[in-house]
Amino acid sequence: MAFPESFIEELKERNDIVDVVGSYVPLTKKSGGSLFGLCPFHNEKTPSFSVNQGMQIYHCFGCGKGGGVVNFIMEIENLSYPDAVRFLAKRAGMEVPEDTYDPRRGRRERMLQLNREAARFFRAQLLAPTGAAGQAYVQKRGIVKMVNPFGLGYAPDSWQALTDAMTAKGYTHEELVDAGLSRVGKSGGLYDYFRNRLMFPVIDVRGNVIGFSGRILGDGEPKYLNSPDTLVYSKSRSLFALNLAKKSKSGYILLAEGNIDVVSLHQAGFDSAVASLGTSLTPDQARLMANYTTRVVIAYDADAAGQKAAQRAIGILQPLDLKINVVKIPGAKDPDEFIQANGPDKFRQLIERSGNQTEYRLEETAAQFDLKTDDGRLNYLRAAAKLIASLPGSVEREIYGMRAAEKANVSRDAFMLEVEKVRRQNTSAARKKREREAAAPLRSAQPADRSLRYQNVPSAVAEEGVLNLLCRFPEQFRNLPLGKEDFTSPALGGLFEAVYAQARAGSGFSVAALEQSFPPEQMALLTGILQRDEISAAAAEQAMGDYIKKIRAEKDKTAPGDDLRAYAEKLKRTKGYGS
Ligand code: UTP
Ligand code: MN
Repeated sequence: MAFPESFIEELKERNDIVDVVGSYVPLTKKSGGSLFGLCPFHNEKTPSFSVNQGMQIYHCFGCGKGGGVVNFIMEIENLSYPDAVRFLAKRAGMEVPEDTYDPRRGRRERMLQLNREAARFFRAQLLAPTGAAGQAYVQKRGIVKMVNPFGLGYAPDSWQALTDAMTAKGYTHEELVDAGLSRVGKSGGLYDYFRNRLMFPVIDVRGNVIGFSGRILGDGEPKYLNSPDTLVYSKSRSLFALNLAKKSKSGYILLAEGNIDVVSLHQAGFDSAVASLGTSLTPDQARLMANYTTRVVIAYDADAAGQKAAQRAIGILQPLDLKINVVKIPGAKDPDEFIQANGPDKFRQLIERSGNQTEYRLEETAAQFDLKTDDGRLNYLRAAAKLIASLPGSVEREIYGMRAAEKANVSRDAFMLEVEKVRRQNTSAARKKREREAAAPLRSAQPADRSLRYQNVPSAVAEEGVLNLLCRFPEQFRNLPLGKEDFTSPALGGLFEAVYAQARAGSGFSVAALEQSFPPEQMALLTGILQRDEISAAAAEQAMGDYIKKIRAEKDKTAPGDDLRAYAEKLKRTKGYGS
């Protein structure tokens, strides 16, 4: 779906990047035309995140993210391009021209609206006199302060209250059943699915109410009722409270089992707590977390089932390159009970102590192999040796080495020999890597995104220069002896083509118009180039000439007709550029 250009231009006018970014990140004025702040996309202590008001772009020199205002919203709110546009339109009070009518979209919107109305209804019930039982339960669990932030509610002890209220608002029986809020009874009439329960709305990262969990007040079965999967709700792809946790500055996501744990953790100040919704953690949920953090702290229940679930969760999180810690909860069944008994500070200590979980990772490794067979033990030892070799302290290596050896029933000495072997391999691999990097300094000129890697770095550096000048001084370069096909980097060539078209049309450079057609990685490549050292307008002409000359020279080197040997000779002569 494409939005009209005029609409995008107005959207950009009404959403100045400094205002928009500034509402998420405190910015301070610094050198030149740029403002600086701490990057919201990665953890850092000194600012490497920059915003350029003149060009309406942002770029982080630390993590390499960058783009225009729409792209910023896509990243920080985890939205698709069209949704980010709608988000900004809403912010600026603009109407969105929707060019296609999708009936599915209509049904989704209706269901989301219905869910929102239902959540409002439950909330009102909790505050009403008829909601006394719900109120009492919230009091008893000590989570009164969290009623508002979580939008908690109460489903009254009635067969029809919600069904009637929603029908009165114009929702059809079919819609109520589809949303999982009502069920069809024996007589064909509808009855409320959630009755006499504390209601937890499940809210996605965009703020939509997508489903509900209802806890029984006190004991009884089933303890929780959950909305079924619907057009707008997939339990295996949602995380309870991620809408709140995504804003946390803690640097990690705290993964708990129970809804009550999550609410209680937030109340105690752990604002990054989430829970999977009654399912064991799924790969989709893990990926969802990885969108917002690089570290997951697992705080599952202390019982055997919880510990087993933690092991499973580790297995699912590990492939995503997340740092994983596991909190062990002593003397309580779950985080909620622990905090109620010992207070937040004690829980914070547990999180801090979870930092080194070698034991956990060893157990996880052991679980992958059948230690009753020789093969299994051998493979376990190799994997365990790798893990232990990566530990920085020799004492640590000794301690865990001993444990691993015991587990596989081999001598400690034999095992430690294996560890030392891996360590030697590691150090020599690290040295080789350093040597390679020293030999090819231009490697650092490669884009952050691997898929955009330059084949010919010297040419690409010049291509970047052309692009930079063209974006800065579009009116000076309406006629260039250069086309997309002259670019060795397809990513840069594509950007050139679009920016050059803007320059020729005389409309000036607009990043907002590009965001619609280029993926975030490519936008980040562009903003990185634009945020490099500036060349004055006076020097631009000369610089452009130099860049084009360089591109031509590189092209000649690889022109067809050159046989391989001649090419190699040339390379030798121009050594220093590398290739
Ligand atoms: P818990 O039994 O640990 O619930 O189940 P809890 O939220 O911690 O509640 P308290 O502390 O005992 O009051 C963990 C999660 O498993 C799902 C729910 O999502 C719950 O939060 N669950 C549990 C169900 O979906 N159905 C059930 O019947 C029980
Ligand atoms: Mn629990």
